[in-house]
Amino acid sequence: MLLRFTLNDRPQTWEVAPNESLLDALRRHGVFGVKHGCETGECGACTVRLDGVPVTSCTLLAAQADGRSVATVEALGEHPEQGWKHTAGLHPLQQAFIQAGAIQCGYCTPAQLLAAQALLERNPNPTEAEVRDALSGVLCRCTGYVKPVQAVLRAAAILRGEEPPAAPDSAPPSEPPLPVEPPQASPAADDRTPPGEVAAPASGASVTTQTRVTLPVLVVAPAENRYVGAAEPKVDAVKLAQGKPAFVADVEMRGMLVGKLLHSPIAHGYIKRIDVSRARALPGVHAVLTYADIPRVVHSTAGQSDPIPGPLDFFSLDRKLRCVGDRVAAVAAESEEIAQRALDLIEVEYEELPAILDPRESMAPGAPIIHDEPEYTPFADCDPARNLAAAIRIELGDVDAAMQTADHIFEGEYQVPKVQQTPIEPMVCITHWDENDRLVIRTSTQVPFHARRMLAPVLGLPIKRIRVIKPRIGGGFGNKQEVLIEDICAHLTIATGRPVKMEYTRAEQFLASTSRHPMCITMRTGVMADGRIVANEMRVLSDTGAYGNHALTVTGNTGHKAMSLYPANKGADGQSNIRFVADVVYTNTPTAGAYRGYGVPQGFYPLECHMERIARGLGLDPLAFRLMNVVQAGEEHAMAKAWSEGRVAHPELIRTNAIHECARLGAELIGWTEHPERRPAGGGTQSKDHLRRGKGVALVMQGTAIPNLDMGAASLKMNDDGSFNLLVGATDLGTGSDTVLTQMAAEVLGCPPEDFITYSSDTDFTPFDKGAYASSTTYISGAAVVEAARGVAEQIKAVAGRMLGAPAEEIMLAERQAWAPDGRSVTLAELALESLHHSDQHQIMAVGSHVSPDSPPPFAAQFADVTVDIETGQITVEKLVMVLDCGVIVNPATATGQVEGGMTQALGYAVCEEMVLDERGRLVNPRFGDYRIFTADEMPELQVRFVPTYEPTHPFGVKAVAEIPLDGVAPAVANAVYDATGIETPVIPLTPERVWRALKGR
Ligand code: FES
Ligand code: FES
Repeated sequence: MLLRFTLNDRPQTWEVAPNESLLDALRRHGVFGVKHGCETGECGACTVRLDGVPVTSCTLLAAQADGRSVATVEALGEHPEQGWKHTAGLHPLQQAFIQAGAIQCGYCTPAQLLAAQALLERNPNPTEAEVRDALSGVLCRCTGYVKPVQAVLRAAAILRGEEPPAAPDSAPPSEPPLPVEPPQASPAADDRTPPGEVAAPASGASVTTQTRVTLPVLVVAPAENRYVGAAEPKVDAVKLAQGKPAFVADVEMRGMLVGKLLHSPIAHGYIKRIDVSRARALPGVHAVLTYADIPRVVHSTAGQSDPIPGPLDFFSLDRKLRCVGDRVAAVAAESEEIAQRALDLIEVEYEELPAILDPRESMAPGAPIIHDEPEYTPFADCDPARNLAAAIRIELGDVDAAMQTADHIFEGEYQVPKVQQTPIEPMVCITHWDENDRLVIRTSTQVPFHARRMLAPVLGLPIKRIRVIKPRIGGGFGNKQEVLIEDICAHLTIATGRPVKMEYTRAEQFLASTSRHPMCITMRTGVMADGRIVANEMRVLSDTGAYGNHALTVTGNTGHKAMSLYPANKGADGQSNIRFVADVVYTNTPTAGAYRGYGVPQGFYPLECHMERIARGLGLDPLAFRLMNVVQAGEEHAMAKAWSEGRVAHPELIRTNAIHECARLGAELIGWTEHPERRPAGGGTQSKDHLRRGKGVALVMQGTAIPNLDMGAASLKMNDDGSFNLLVGATDLGTGSDTVLTQMAAEVLGCPPEDFITYSSDTDFTPFDKGAYASSTTYISGAAVVEAARGVAEQIKAVAGRMLGAPAEEIMLAERQAWAPDGRSVTLAELALESLHHSDQHQIMAVGSHVSPDSPPPFAAQFADVTVDIETGQITVEKLVMVLDCGVIVNPATATGQVEGGMTQALGYAVCEEMVLDERGRLVNPRFGDYRIFTADEMPELQVRFVPTYEPTHPFGVKAVAEIPLDGVAPAVANAVYDATGIETPVIPLTPERVWRALKGR
């Protein structure tokens, strides 16, 4: 049928199918600012304005737009300079989003911009609540909504012709605030810090940001640096604010087919008979693959370094099915509709086996064996005959003897749920053969280099015939550390010779990607009467689901990080007495995997709830008790010498640790000191008969990269105009790593980040990097970038020395120039022309690569302030405060954005998120509406502060930021509930029903 409508003020006539959604029609016509995140109108990523009103285009038929006006982000504004053509530039909303750091992965950004534009047109002076309400239809999994709200308020002020309002900050920063924009003034030559030499920030200096209705974002950069420490705009923000086609699904290829999977409806069993003849006969179908059609290659989907520290137990397609959602068959067809019809035509007869849905039954005698395939390749202590994917036994000191010396022994049992990462961009991949018969895999992955290596044997190709390209990623959070759909998409390309695109639906994303491991945890702790911990034991039963990817390493990190925070070394001999015992079992449930935090949130929930129980049991202030026992700078990392992700472990020293300062500042911000004598649990403030208010705390630590393993590399080359190409294998998944890596190079070379064209990552063009996980990019890849930049700086100084007649070692780089000691200078552009075209011609370029023996832990104090309705069990989290020691903060805007977004995910873990399975192993809530992640209007106040330390093992003193925000919210909220009500809540999420039952003793 013909659709006549106006798109971005231009009349259009399109041929559309009667059942085609407006989203599909727009994207089919190249309008890629409209994104796909679900099919049910629940994520808002597909928002357009229909006659001015924001609506979700995935739930609207294209035909419904007939005669109407549709506006998308493409009409909002564009880059002001298009060669000789100049435009009106970006819309103030787009500018505000860029300046406020409101864009992380940018997948939701076009929709947020349109929702905000509609609001400001009808209400130029909105309140914060009105802004939150307007944004509430667009889910964002990255930002915590703080900076998008700030950006809208800022744009509103600018559009009204006003100066953006000053920040109504409750706690002023310790140093004068800087605007978001980079400073313009040139420093005097003698003020310059020599490139690459960084002084430690003053002790106690606090980098701060206000995180709710505060304009502008206040940041304080360490005075010694120009670019490192400044809230530089993200290097990819301008394209993301315009909705440019930057993501995998935005690529169109001639002859591209659509790949789709048939998923298992049973939790455990065999394909007894499968008939694909009718599907293959359907016009438009180009391939139907079953286990009988492709080689049977056992492998792991876990995107990790070689050798993969886990069992090989997965096949692209298999006759045995191990969970609901497992793969039965794959189809490639000319359209999604045909592909779906083909799936419907596949006839399958299943032979069901008894299924294990409860991990406690998995190792029981007589339990069904989930992995009995002969190709199964074990790693370390796994035992498929007992459904054991991994086992960990660590003992430091003599735990039993130390327990006997303790005045008290405290015990507790805890349980944490299976939750989903829910990046708004689902898993998506395009594969095709290039003109050299090399297989190109364009995929939304956190691990492009691992993907290439791991897929080679599965596809029967040498590594050199595979190229993996990672464009922008619409959020990953560990979900895309899995090489999960690339294999099947590539099999379909091999089968058809055609480009194939596979993109999960939201239901598939929930069911057939990965999730966080649910765990049952038992704690046992020996304590002296004065509160000194002398022995600590954690026992874990972890559920990896149908496959053992990440089984060992996720669960190992549960103990490795959590059990190192309190080293249990307060006995007479000062040695740590720690026991960590973990069994990771297979069940017939959807597979677990990596999720931001990587096992550590599962460890801190029981640990920090247990610490609360002990403190209150001994009548001690919960915070003082923790600080009495917490690990100190100068001490060894307790667990480092015992375990290192299944590889050889080495001792590590903790060189920097500001946990006491974090706790002090956090306590001040949450009002902990208003209660110098802590109330007994249950004595929380009573504001109404049925409401109780309480405050809780949790201390946490994480790691920074995997020591002696994680490696990153970078190459840097100079162009004719003095600009640089920075190529990194590191994988920016929306976190801003491209930006902070650019800032480090800029600092060394004395020129602004805008002079760098930063590109990540493509296995053909960028150097190797292990990828985005383990909070390693700023630390590992950053050090590689600094090394490459120092190499380039040396070469620049040599050329400048010749041009200026000065010794190269005395040349300084700043302000896009090379300076001689007497004040004469040559610009980098002049220098580049000299080097490339005039004399002693050569390309100025260098590479750097880095691996570290250290994994310096970031530390943080997390506080929560909650109200509990004791009649309904409803918890309202009023405020979250997180104060972190993450070393030097390279970019306060991206760092605070990471923390705000991480705390928001962690808040979902605490109070509402849970994947619920029925008695047959089917997921009950595979959609956003039922699963529930936080929306803009549901958020509590968030407050984030950094207490910088200077980590001496990194050239700029950094430690990790990305994962630690996930660790402390759930226990801090639970401890606040305990404070308010006197009721412990050992199981999360703290749903009203669960809290109500705890309150009523049921
Ligand atoms: S894609 Fe339309 S609401 Fe999710
Ligand atoms: S920035 Fe909103 S989903 Fe990533």
